[in-house]
Amino acid sequence: MRENPNYNEIYYQHTTSHSQVIDIVTEQIIPLSELDAPMNWERLFRNTYPVEIEIGSGKGRFLLEASKRHSKVNYIGVERAQKYVELTRERFEKHIRHFGIDKTSGTFSNVRLVRTDANYFLTRYVPEMSVQAYHIYFPDPWPRKRQRKRRIFRNQDFLAALTHTLNSGGGRLYIVTDHEEYFQEIQERLAGLSVLRPIDAGLKPDSDITTHYEMKYVLEGRPIYRAVYEKVLS
Ligand SMILES: C[S@@+](CC[C@H](N)C(=O)[O-])C[C@H]1O[C@@H](n2cnc3c(N)ncnc32)[C@H](O)[C@@H]1O
Repeated sequence: MRENPNYNEIYYQHTTSHSQVIDIVTEQIIPLSELDAPMNWERLFRNTYPVEIEIGSGKGRFLLEASKRHSKVNYIGVERAQKYVELTRERFEKHIRHFGIDKTSGTFSNVRLVRTDANYFLTRYVPEMSVQAYHIYFPDPWPRKRQRKRRIFRNQDFLAALTHTLNSGGGRLYIVTDHEEYFQEIQERLAGLSVLRPIDAGLKPDSDITTHYEMKYVLEGRPIYRAVYEKVLS
């Protein structure tokens, strides 16, 4: 059976023809195709703070809380579903209105939403060794046997991009899921990557920040599985 999903150029053209980078505060929207590949973080954020990327940022709960708490970290939320991109923008807008946040104060200037496919973004736009952390919370488990080939952790190009783009010596990968079988598969696949070593999942900072799916599943009483990996010096 094919292990890798069919992420070919046609797929990318189809799913990424509307790829955009959205600045939530200024509401500036730039087509991804107009930006350098690989991107220049310093130019994008106009600062030199470290960059963390959430893959599949969904409704944006983690992105909002983490970026508010750590104003000197740049956050990128990569989400391919337009519906969730819109919900995330609304979440930030509501928060800004509710708390009377002055848009010129710098709050949330450390956030960009990227509407695109994560494989496409990581393999083309993310510079080598430029990411302090990846957050992958509740990746789609594709539970049906014949759909499992779509699992993001089965994509070898994605795994290669993930490991190349993490900072050497200290770059972290945070994973949370409710799906036991997929969790085991992820651990097995990552065990085959010598540049990543598992570390104590208790070392995950901001574990009080829950995503939409985490809240939902915790309320349902489902067990939640967590893993943290660190890139070793190469
Ligand atoms: C199960 S939801 C989890 C959302 C969020 N992380 C949470 O925990 O609430 C998975 C999300 O990943 C997004 N997604 C799945 N595959 C993706 C890909 N290849 N690129 C970008 N987003 C993706 C989906 O659109 C969806 O919003």
